Amino acid sequence: MELIQVEGGFPLSGEVVVEGAKNSALKLMVATLMAPGVNTLTNVPNISDVHTMGTVLECLGAVIDVADEHTLHIDTSCIDSWVTPYELVARMRASTAVLGPLITRFGKAVVAMPGGCNIGARKIDMHLQGLAALGVEFTIDHGNIHAAAPHGLKGATVELEFASVGATENLLMGAVCAEGTTIIDNAAREPEIVDLADMLNDMGAHIEGAGTPSITIEGVSSLHPVAHRVVGDRIEAGTFIAIGGIAGGPLTVKGFDPKHLDIVLRKFEAMGINIEREEDGVHVSRAADTPIQPSDIQTLPFPGFPTDMQAQTMTLLALAAGDSFITENVFENRFMLAAELNRMGADIRIEGHHAIIHGAKGFSGAPVTSPDLRGGAALVMAGLVADGYTKIDGVNHIDRGYEHFVEKLQSLGAHIERHEECPLNLDSFAPRKA
Ligand code: EPZ
Repeated sequence: MELIQVEGGFPLSGEVVVEGAKNSALKLMVATLMAPGVNTLTNVPNISDVHTMGTVLECLGAVIDVADEHTLHIDTSCIDSWVTPYELVARMRASTAVLGPLITRFGKAVVAMPGGCNIGARKIDMHLQGLAALGVEFTIDHGNIHAAAPHGLKGATVELEFASVGATENLLMGAVCAEGTTIIDNAAREPEIVDLADMLNDMGAHIEGAGTPSITIEGVSSLHPVAHRVVGDRIEAGTFIAIGGIAGGPLTVKGFDPKHLDIVLRKFEAMGINIEREEDGVHVSRAADTPIQPSDIQTLPFPGFPTDMQAQTMTLLALAAGDSFITENVFENRFMLAAELNRMGADIRIEGHHAIIHGAKGFSGAPVTSPDLRGGAALVMAGLVADGYTKIDGVNHIDRGYEHFVEKLQSLGAHIERHEECPLNLDSFAPRKA
């Protein structure tokens, strides 16, 4: 089992360049299914979710050439299957994004019902309802969703009951070659949606309004392959900005558009963190004699405060000079980090969708467990300023969304390493023979 071990208390400074956005790259990859030929994606993050998605595409018949660590040439000329491997979809929920593209290409698809995950049920009812409005019929059989559009895909107006990122993306990709006009109302507005729409339009689609609550898609007959650069990862950037805020910095975080993190940066500034914005990044620092100020946070769909920054912000607020409140409005179970931070000396109480955080003087290092991707990164963040050593297991969660996380922190001066931890040898705890 791999562990990350951090010795806290060392100053961090320097520059970090974030990768392409995980939550865009995965959807751009599946969108290539609709554009037969060689599509080139650059600025692709080298993370395990991308590797998993590559395997899904290869199982469908794609040929992927990894030109360098961040460039993929994806040849979808010979895609010959519309059945995704059950275990891969079960492992990575984002694989359900193949639904729209496969139905567009083949008029049918077989995709495993995604399981829930640590942060919630992760249903896809809105995906299915939206695609059904376009003429897709579904049956669920032995854990698989069987989708088919026997009469083809026809444009429709779909109003999402929640601005779901995944549902918006699946609908977008189901509508690009549908007959006529599709309107998605209450659409998600995340920058990753805009990135996907930009690439689809380069492929020949007619999409207007991406990034607004109403997206209009005029169906076209076909799409062609393109080259596209993945938008910078605003959440990886926000994670390093939070690290600069908790450790003091000064840090420079580059490779993303600060406008994609506006409310986070404004909240962090109100918490006493200095942030200087530039075109493609920020400078972040906090003077040692400037305490972190408490704050009230509500997570919401973009442009609201992103749920993917909730864990990192909880860690900052756990050391604030006062009481803070976080309300998690997007996922039903995304406060598991609190119990782990409390083991490090935090004072956080959970009441339903609310976290009540009473600021503590500091963290003390302890063995802790990553509850999920962002919670794992937040525990590393806490370890960087904790007294003593912190051991974080569940490193696989962190590898899903952060490329070279340990190396990047080492380059900033952190005393951090990852190593194999031999499983506990329980014999050594056996009662001594009388
Ligand atoms: C995407 O998940 C991201 N994942 C998540 O990032 C992110 O937290 C989330 O959007 C919100 O921004 C990827 O892009 C791969 P949703 P997604 O559909 O599409 C419920 C990370 O840490 N819902 O906006 O699954 C759902 O259960 C990950 O990088 C339904 O009930 O998010 C959730 O409670 C975590 N029915 C809420 O809506 C549906 O049909 C938001 O889900 C769809 C969603």
